[in-house]
Amino acid sequence: MEFEKIIAQANPQGDLRLLQITDTHLFASRGTGLLGINTLDSFKAVLDQIQQDQAEFDWIMATGDLSQDHSERSYQRFAEGIACLQRPVLWLPGNHDFNPVMWQTLEQSGISSAKQLVSDHWQLILLDTQVPEKPHGYLAASQLDFLTQALHEYPNKHALILMHHQCCPIGCQWLDQHNLKNSDHFYQAIQAHSQVKAILFGHIHQNFEYQQGGIAFIASPSTCIQFLPLSKDFALDQQQPGYRCLTLHRNGSISTRVKRIEGQRFLPDNQSQGY
Ligand SMILES: [Fe+2]
Repeated sequence: MEFEKIIAQANPQGDLRLLQITDTHLFASRGTGLLGINTLDSFKAVLDQIQQDQAEFDWIMATGDLSQDHSERSYQRFAEGIACLQRPVLWLPGNHDFNPVMWQTLEQSGISSAKQLVSDHWQLILLDTQVPEKPHGYLAASQLDFLTQALHEYPNKHALILMHHQCCPIGCQWLDQHNLKNSDHFYQAIQAHSQVKAILFGHIHQNFEYQQGGIAFIASPSTCIQFLPLSKDFALDQQQPGYRCLTLHRNGSISTRVKRIEGQRFLPDNQSQGY
């Protein structure tokens, strides 16, 4: 499949500034929640927090699980909410998404389906790791081809690769079963490309930053429920929903921070055994 490519300008300092929003798990119905948290309310609270923080970014990256019920209305709710930030959005699907409806509804809402963004010093490559009706991820041959082609196309630009599933262990045993199953294929595809500086993912509903072999592995809190780091079995965290800002500098380094909603407004139902 041929994907649209976006050419974007760095800011005057040569930086590309991103906001990551992930795992909104929205429903068609206004009143539905996930494990005791109303996901539309928590999404809106994160959007309010971003505006209150006067966070500075030029692009929004939505890294999957935008919907929990596959409905057109849930994707419209995402588009309606994110519009308040007045910045362009790129997205990729998560295990809970339904790609055909997601693609069509977001496009109808004016959100680009591009999966490659090329700027002065960086390129971003957004991959689809979804396996229909499975919680784990897999990169199909077509996605690996797209990745390889994109890396060959811009050998002199730093690369940030985005995908929903984690390609490295994160230390939560139950979540590490739902990882990217063919991470060996992924590493083979990137190993000859030293311009790959970071992998950004969603899915794990927690703050995660890890560095190995010159590559940063980064994930972020969901805008709804949080999973407890380093837990063997399914466990929820009392930490609040949040978002991440990343500045991709011209020299290939990255500054990044996570910010959560202030207070204790969103507390999950701790009796939940899974999701
Ligand atoms: Fe999720």
